Amino acid sequence: MKNYFSINDIDSLDTWVEEAIALKQNPLTNKDLGKDKTIGLLFFNPSLRTRLSTQKAALNLGMNVMVMNFTGEGWSLEYGDGTVMDQGNSEHVKEAAQVVSQYCDVLAIRAFASLKNREDDYSEKVLKSFMEFATIPIVNMESAAGHPLQALTDAITITEHKKANKPKVVLSWAPHPKALPQAVANSFVEMMQQMDAHFVITHPKGFELANHITKEVPIDYNQDNALKDADFVYVKNWSSYHDYGKIGKDSSWKITEEKMKHTANAKFMHCLPVRRNVVVDDKVIDSENSIVIEQANNRTYAAQLVLKKILEKQ
Ligand code: CP
Repeated sequence: MKNYFSINDIDSLDTWVEEAIALKQNPLTNKDLGKDKTIGLLFFNPSLRTRLSTQKAALNLGMNVMVMNFTGEGWSLEYGDGTVMDQGNSEHVKEAAQVVSQYCDVLAIRAFASLKNREDDYSEKVLKSFMEFATIPIVNMESAAGHPLQALTDAITITEHKKANKPKVVLSWAPHPKALPQAVANSFVEMMQQMDAHFVITHPKGFELANHITKEVPIDYNQDNALKDADFVYVKNWSSYHDYGKIGKDSSWKITEEKMKHTANAKFMHCLPVRRNVVVDDKVIDSENSIVIEQANNRTYAAQLVLKKILEKQ
């Protein structure tokens, strides 16, 4: 595997999930695989879980880790071809990607959507430019339109907790005071289409994700109805794709104890960070059915599996 850009880079999901669960049992099994190899983690946006779990994953494989918060610390990058760089940007991604490739063996990047221009965001300019000009493998730590490390984590977590062969999984939109990207929801939707699950999406009208992501997945605009008999409730806010970046604050979509009563004693999932009592009530996220902390723990094993696959090809 050269890059881990999207979940389409997973060649056999069942095998990967099985391998990640095995890594969780013995995380130091491959502690020499990354000896004398270096991973660079470039962050254009904040992170807690992705930064620390990817670092931990690399350390478990014996790699050296270099982390750079690009925004504020790095030169502002230019991506345009043939641009006369007499404005704000100081360095072209062509040089930056090639230079970093000399210092590292693997490069992982986080670069969120701007939510200003949909076409620009969904072109995945930052990740794709680095993939074009770097000479080392690139790992997506959340790009404008996808968060494939989170989606692999979610597949692992659902597999560990599912009781039925084909569980009912509901992705529910929830309110948020700020405009958030669609990246987590997009990759989760793509992942659920790969898994054996009865999968339903619920959100208010106007918050449809891109058709090329949702394809044939059923959408129910009635949250209570969608939650009926669910085994897993995956909650996430996203801003509008069609009215690009429009915020959704409808508090009637907040996940409450009452709403969870519609489910089949469902597990509550969220990628975190989460705004308590806006997205979900304390009583739900603090309940014994909440698996958000374990979900966050699985970020390490998803990242470790991806890095292991890359290192095995080097
Ligand atoms: N879920 C997730 O990606 O968390 P961070 O933004 O803290 O990395």
